[in-house]
Amino acid sequence: MVAGAFAPLPAARQEVQEQPAPAQQGAPENALVRASDVPVGSGLILGDTVVTQPNLGNYQGFSVICTHQGCALNEIAGGTINCPCHGSKFNLDGSVATGPANEPLSRREVSVQGDWIVAGAPATPPVIKPWWCEIPIFAPGSADC
Ligand code: FES
Repeated sequence: MVAGAFAPLPAARQEVQEQPAPAQQGAPENALVRASDVPVGSGLILGDTVVTQPNLGNYQGFSVICTHQGCALNEIAGGTINCPCHGSKFNLDGSVATGPANEPLSRREVSVQGDWIVAGAPATPPVIKPWWCEIPIFAPGSADC
């Protein structure tokens, strides 16, 4: 065996802090952001929620947790929602643009109330398979894969 051949992997899952509701007068309960602040053709990362507006007036919400190995998505750029850990990119509708992730983002219900984007129920966390499931010898259904 070669010394150092099995270096420990960095922890993939990151803690995500719940975003407090904006302390602005007139904001409904669970308000995330003013609708006018969400850029068309892009979006915002707001605590544990990603809010996108792929086209005018079409707001969508997702969990900030990457479906690959659970890192927190940290950037929306070039029309995709990006993960810093292994490079997965998601389209503004939550579908996978570039792997290694192969599952879409978990949806989080959002709605427009007046000028505000309001969060619904928290997103169901994605099921994150252990890293060894990417090794071909572990078939689906074996070893927690
Ligand atoms: S955890 Fe996001 S790409 Fe791996």
